[in-house]
Amino acid sequence: MPKEFTVTPWKVEGEVDYTKLIKEFGVQEVNEKLLERIKKHTGELHYMLRRKIFFSHIDLGFILDEYEKGNKFYLYTGRGPSGNTHLGHLVPWMFTKWLQDKFDAELWFQMTDDEKFIFNPELELEETNRLAYENALDVIALGFKRGKTFIFSDVDYGKTLYKQAIRVAKRLTVSTTKAAFGLTDSDSVGKHFFTTVQSVPAFLPSVLKGKNIPCLIPCAIDQSVHFRLTRDIVHKLGYYKPAGLYNVFLPALTGPKGKMSASIAETAVYTTDAPEVVEKKIRKYAFSGGRDTVEEHRKHGGNPDIDVSYQWLRFFEEDDKKLERIHDEYKSGKLLSGELKEILIEKLTVFLKKHQENRERARKVLDSYILKD
Ligand code: TRP
Repeated sequence: MPKEFTVTPWKVEGEVDYTKLIKEFGVQEVNEKLLERIKKHTGELHYMLRRKIFFSHIDLGFILDEYEKGNKFYLYTGRGPSGNTHLGHLVPWMFTKWLQDKFDAELWFQMTDDEKFIFNPELELEETNRLAYENALDVIALGFKRGKTFIFSDVDYGKTLYKQAIRVAKRLTVSTTKAAFGLTDSDSVGKHFFTTVQSVPAFLPSVLKGKNIPCLIPCAIDQSVHFRLTRDIVHKLGYYKPAGLYNVFLPALTGPKGKMSASIAETAVYTTDAPEVVEKKIRKYAFSGGRDTVEEHRKHGGNPDIDVSYQWLRFFEEDDKKLERIHDEYKSGKLLSGELKEILIEKLTVFLKKHQENRERARKVLDSYILKD
């Protein structure tokens, strides 16, 4: 039987079954017990935890065990700079910012300009490198703490990273990269090698500070494939296995299948889109769970489970009560599809206005966040 969906770090296709992914990727479900445990330290739970947007993890229990013993962890996440930042990218970053605040943790943020150059036949290295620093503005705009947040491009921090990447590479075979990523003999050695570079920040702070520090990686589930390999290898090198906390994808504007693609402009809203553009994209492309006619909609109601405007509000409207009201009114037919779209437009317009102001301000302080060697 053909697979009905595919998730790899470089391709997401079809309607993702997250229950199946948990098994396939060897991760654990985020359950109520774990949420209670987090809440003991944070006081409240972030809405992305309450709503199971962060739905799976590996070894989060270990991170909390260590934290409770006074052994603080650091955060590690990243961005593959292949284009402008879109709203789907912001999802794990917004959550990571909350973790930084609640646990007073350092963030190590990797920008894989090397990866996007290797994997994308159309992109030159100068371009992915330039995009890395454009994307970094979006990271800083979210409010990460200066002095506790270290952002680096693989190319511009290469000397430090390379020394560690080869330690990983020595212990990684091509049969493993084939099995884990579906790479083949015809793929470039660059593709086979790349995962070693993504492994490095999962133990680099331990190397630099000369003591073992636990690492937590919050990111979208597709990246967990890398860290399965990382965990095995860094353990052999004598470091802690990094833990992970993984989110579901923000659905594409045009339908609930797959993740948004930065290369197809209609399926995504970019952080730099002007209000008129956001408005137009949502009115024109947002997949609707509404009925064909107003009469039918009033009578039978809409389907919030497949309606992208509603789904996006789950990712961006923090207020549970407001969200529930919208859900119920849409389902009962009181709220029309067009009205729901306007609620989302309003929410995103306000959010993006602030984000874009912060993003411009970030240009002035960019250098103070960047590591180079
Ligand atoms: N490979 C990731 C991407 O294509 C970028 C990345 C590097 C990353 N290190 C990471 C993402 C750690 C999440 C966590 O987007």
